[in-house]
Amino acid sequence: MTGITALPIRLRDTDRVALTEHFLALDADDRRLRFGASLSDDAIRALDERIDFDRDEIFGIAGDDLRLLAVVHVAFYPAKAELGLSVLPGVRGLGLGNALFSRAVMHLTNRGVREVFVHCLSQNGAMMHLARKNGMRVVHDGSETDAYLALPSATPGSILAEWVFDHNARIAHDFRRGTRLALDAMQAMTPRPARQRRAA
Ligand SMILES: CC(C)(COP(=O)(O)OP(=O)(O)OC[C@H]1O[C@@H](n2cnc3c(N)ncnc32)[C@H](O)[C@@H]1OP(=O)(O)O)[C@@H](O)C(=O)NCCC(=O)NCCS
Repeated sequence: MTGITALPIRLRDTDRVALTEHFLALDADDRRLRFGASLSDDAIRALDERIDFDRDEIFGIAGDDLRLLAVVHVAFYPAKAELGLSVLPGVRGLGLGNALFSRAVMHLTNRGVREVFVHCLSQNGAMMHLARKNGMRVVHDGSETDAYLALPSATPGSILAEWVFDHNARIAHDFRRGTRLALDAMQAMTPRPARQRRAA
């Protein structure tokens, strides 16, 4: 890992703008890999408006500038859940996708969900690799692929581990947000050097 803190935080309705910006930062190819179609900017905005933060769970990893670098959307179905991951191109291959996957699995285990799956294009080498690395059963169906993972039962230890993880992630995030706001405020208050008078 680099300087990025790979501690996913739970996103809330107040993070909706940051989430939209994250999806808009994906190019046409990435949008196709993530959503199954190269959605237009307007379609992305409409999609984001439909995300229900009470029903679904969304975890994100932010950079020092608080921009969302990586996001996993967890959609619930009866007895199972689907993951949709996206990591911005500049920070791929650093383990953020894997960190999001693990965080989502931790959450689903503790919610009593018995199976998680990922649906993606068969050509998606990175996602296929991530799925296999996490022990998922990969089922190809032509150009599309589903990967499944059976989840264990929750234990008091797994519930405590999630609570501690959430707590630490939120503290780290709030600290970075506070630092960012303080730096921005200091910058705004610093007087700019007077513009040099042009020689006559
Ligand atoms: C798939 C995606 C989420 C992975 O995110 P990431 O942060 O790069 O993931 P990680 O760094 O944790 O792991 C990526 C792994 O895939 C490997 N990888 C990358 N490209 C690969 C490829 N074309 N073929 C095989 N493996 C590949 C990396 O080497 C790394 O493996 P390692 O950890 O064993 O070294 C990211 O590429 C992405 O957002 N893609 C566009 C959207 C998308 O495809 N979403 C998935 C649909 S649900």
